Amino acid sequence: MALAIRFHDQLADRHVSSLREEVLAGFAATPKAIAPKFFYDRRGSELFEAICLQPEYYPTRTEEAILRRAAGEIAELAGPGAELIEFGSGASRKVRLLLEAMRPRRYLGIDISEDFLRASTHRLAADYPWLDVHALCADFCQDLALPRAFRCERPLAFFPGSSIGNFTPAQAQQFLARVYALLPAGGGLLVGVDLVKERATLERAYNDAAGVTAAFNLNLLERIRRELDSDIDPRAFEHRAWFNAAQSRIEMHLVSRQAQEVRIEGRCFRFARGESLHSENSYKYSLASFAALARSVGFDNQAHWVDPARLFSVHYLRRPG
Ligand code: AVJ
Repeated sequence: MALAIRFHDQLADRHVSSLREEVLAGFAATPKAIAPKFFYDRRGSELFEAICLQPEYYPTRTEEAILRRAAGEIAELAGPGAELIEFGSGASRKVRLLLEAMRPRRYLGIDISEDFLRASTHRLAADYPWLDVHALCADFCQDLALPRAFRCERPLAFFPGSSIGNFTPAQAQQFLARVYALLPAGGGLLVGVDLVKERATLERAYNDAAGVTAAFNLNLLERIRRELDSDIDPRAFEHRAWFNAAQSRIEMHLVSRQAQEVRIEGRCFRFARGESLHSENSYKYSLASFAALARSVGFDNQAHWVDPARLFSVHYLRRPG
């Protein structure tokens, strides 16, 4: 049976043009760079789901275990009548733990990957017939405007997976401030944050033996070939990922295997051998550094949970008042 979800779209036409503009600007910059949000076309979203299943990639299963253990407490903090808004909902798997504990009346999933968003919200609607499911295709790096149909009195925002790590700390502060502005007094933000740890553990998580993370990174170049007018050859690049301890972040790069020229939309870009295109940062926080960031925008850190090995953390932030 086809179940109704309310689908809202902010991206539609802007999407391809923003890929073209950002790729051209990023390839022209020194050093060359591109925003990680462009990983998530359909194929990229599928590869990301596969990364989450790799034995080296600890964040997903660790966060799930934390949520499973904390779900009751989270439901209590959110209170009766809370409605869930998920940023970067992806396959919408983790949120099921919250839905089952909280039993909210409504859920809004926000994601940049349209097909993926449609499929995963339809599955939620099928599995939870009591839930009013909304989907919003949007780039939450830009606007945070919620659809008018989704006004609620007691929202609980959910930002799982340490996606907040893709922002620089300054951008993360801005993002948190925008969520804060969206929430009424007493409203909550539940956010998953990956923790600083031993270099080897971090680097293994972004260099899995099966090569899924490498395929995910290289898919960015395949996407440029598919969606833009370009002769870029992904085989002429290799995946690299390492921990930059000074900045407390994993960096992912696509490194040119040779000196080459790449054509995109009529423009020509030269790569030296070994030159990199910086494709992602994934910042790692300590409990104290994240709590300070949350406090700096006015949030109360009401509760946080970590796993026994202290790999990952989940924070319940509340707008006071
Ligand atoms: C979705 C941004 C949290 O940084 O770990 C996984 C993305 N990149 N492997 C992360 C990712 C390479 C992931 N986030």
